Amino acid sequence: MNTPFLAGNWKMNLDRRAALELVEALAGRVGERRDVDVAVFPPFVYLDEISRALMGSPIRVGAQNCCDEESGAFTGEVAASMLADVGAELVLIGHSERRHVYGEGDELICRKVHTALGAGLDVILCVGETIDERESGRTEQVVATQLRAGLEGIAEGDMARVTIAYEPVWAIGTGHTATAAQAGEVHAYLRGLLEGLYSESVAAATRIQYGGSVKADNVAELMAVTDVDGALVGGASLKPESFLPIIEFQG
Ligand code: 13P
Repeated sequence: MNTPFLAGNWKMNLDRRAALELVEALAGRVGERRDVDVAVFPPFVYLDEISRALMGSPIRVGAQNCCDEESGAFTGEVAASMLADVGAELVLIGHSERRHVYGEGDELICRKVHTALGAGLDVILCVGETIDERESGRTEQVVATQLRAGLEGIAEGDMARVTIAYEPVWAIGTGHTATAAQAGEVHAYLRGLLEGLYSESVAAATRIQYGGSVKADNVAELMAVTDVDGALVGGASLKPESFLPIIEFQG
C-alpha cells in the first residue's frame, strides 16, 4: 500500500491573503497526520510566499505548469528551474485544462516532464478522457496514449519522482465524480500500463491519484478503491473546512 497522496490544485483562485490563511490553517493540522502526503499547488505568483509560509511543515508546494524549455526568449513562460528556485518541489503537467483550454499536446507535455525532472522537480502527470471519448468506448485508448507519450524517454530510475493523476475531464468541476468502479477500472489499467512500460515494482510503487469532484463525502470511498493512491482536488481544496476533512479521511 502506497502512502496516500492528497493534493490541492488551486487553479486560478484565491488572492494572497486567502492563500496564506489557507496554508496556515492546513499547516496547523497536517503535522498531526503523518500517514499521508499533502501538497498544494498555488498560482505561480504566490509560490515563493507560500513556500516560505510552509517551511518546516510536511506540506509540499508545487506549481500548476512549467515551460518545456530551460530558459530563453519565451515571453510569459516560467522555467522549471525558477519554480525550484522559489521553493516548489513539484509540478502538475498535462492537466486537462492545459490540454483542452490551451491546446497542449502529448509531445509538449512529454518535453515538460523531461524539463521538470531535469530541474529537480517531482511531476504529477495528469491523464483523462472527455465524456465523448468515454461514451464512444475510447477511455483506455486515450489514457494509454497520454500515459505512454507523456512518459516517453523517462527512465525507470526517475519514476520514483513521478505521480500519475487520473482526472476524467467530465468529472472535473462538475460534481459528477467517477464511481468507485469507474475509477478502479482505469487506475488498474494505468497500473498495468506502467508494468508494461517499466516493471512490476515501478507499477506497484507509482502513486496514481484520482481527480474530479473529490469532496469530503466521497474521498473515503474513492480512497478505498484498489489502485487509488490519492486525490488531486480542485474546488474543495480552496478552503480549510473542505480540504481538511479530505486530508483527514478515515480509511
Ligand atoms: P475539481 O475537484 O474542482 O473537480 O477539480 C479537479 C481538478 O482538476 C484537480 O486538478
